[in-house]
Amino acid sequence: MSAAVDALPEDRVIITDGNVWSAWGSAFSGERVLVLPPGEQSKSMRTYDEALRWVASSGASRRSAIVAFGGGVIGDLAGFVAASYLRGVPLVQLPTTLLAQVDSSVGGKVGIDLPEGKNLVGAFWPPTAVSICLETLRTLDHRQLNNGLAEVWKYGFIMDPGLLELLPPETERLESIVKRCIELKARIVQEDEFETLGLRAILNFGHTLGHAIEQITGYGPILHGEAIAIGMAFEARLGERLGITRTGVAESVRQGLVSQGLPTDSDCLERADDLVAVMRRDKKASASGLAFSLLPEIGECKLIRDVPENEVRACLKER
Ligand SMILES: NC(=O)c1ccc[n+]([C@@H]2O[C@H](COP(=O)([O-])OP(=O)(O)OC[C@H]3O[C@@H](n4cnc5c(N)ncnc54)[C@H](O)[C@@H]3O)[C@@H](O)[C@H]2O)c1
Ligand SMILES: [Zn+2]
Repeated sequence: MSAAVDALPEDRVIITDGNVWSAWGSAFSGERVLVLPPGEQSKSMRTYDEALRWVASSGASRRSAIVAFGGGVIGDLAGFVAASYLRGVPLVQLPTTLLAQVDSSVGGKVGIDLPEGKNLVGAFWPPTAVSICLETLRTLDHRQLNNGLAEVWKYGFIMDPGLLELLPPETERLESIVKRCIELKARIVQEDEFETLGLRAILNFGHTLGHAIEQITGYGPILHGEAIAIGMAFEARLGERLGITRTGVAESVRQGLVSQGLPTDSDCLERADDLVAVMRRDKKASASGLAFSLLPEIGECKLIRDVPENEVRACLKER
């Protein structure tokens, strides 16, 4: 941890949450630091307002870096503060959850939630640096670690079958796995930075249903990684049903996720009306149908638009 702290710009303010600061705050000394309550509720307009005012009162200038020290919640919130304070100041991501290390800290999307929906306000604001310190994962519990591993499995399924051979990971392999995931995400993001070409959509495998599950269950009981694991198992079956995914892929996806201890099914899939209503509002959907990023084969993914709603409903029933 000390190497990561030493590498930070001298002129900095730190935004973190209570769990992260109590576990790792002793690695810092004499900081200007804002410690926010842990949890998704900190990605709110109220906390954004509080954080901006704190940054202003701390005397931060246009050259001061904002350091996001925490999981994806802190990365998104502090990132949006960096994107907007003084029309933008440098952002350094110091992610402390596996999910943030392999996914949210890379790619430049920052933002907050509204009562009307998640991530409705935000910006593309790439960090000037992302500093990954695997040591911080030592204090993360098993469920949160698996939460991040769901995204690792996703990278394997959509673009890197070789990665799947390293999963479930042994602890000593984690470093090379995290590095590989960051390279994969960076490659896609570089080709489609502002999400205008549709390339970034492949990162959404499992997410059309996954986001709907999170929304109808009220963000909390089912973590993001768990929701997308259920989503990946479902979307692989949907792909087979539509003749897009090779037969047998769905079973491989399911077995892989089960071997990681991730869920592949949930009672909430019985709430087809609620799920479909949310999926219709997904940014990839159109008037003629729902949209899913599906796997023709393990290691390949493409965005399929206009998926008929009745096929989705039939697949939800067939569990
Ligand atoms: N910007 C993007 O591209 C992107 C991508 C994926 C997800 N996200 C966002 O990320 C958020 C989820 O991120 P998350 O899963 O990291 O959740 P999180 O930030 O809420 O962290 C999960 C929990 O772990 C605790 N924690 C964090 N680091 C710890 C550590 N080292 N030791 C002990 N406890 C620690 C936190 O306090 C929190 O209670 C969501 O808001 C999601 O929308 C953004
Ligand atoms: Zn995700």
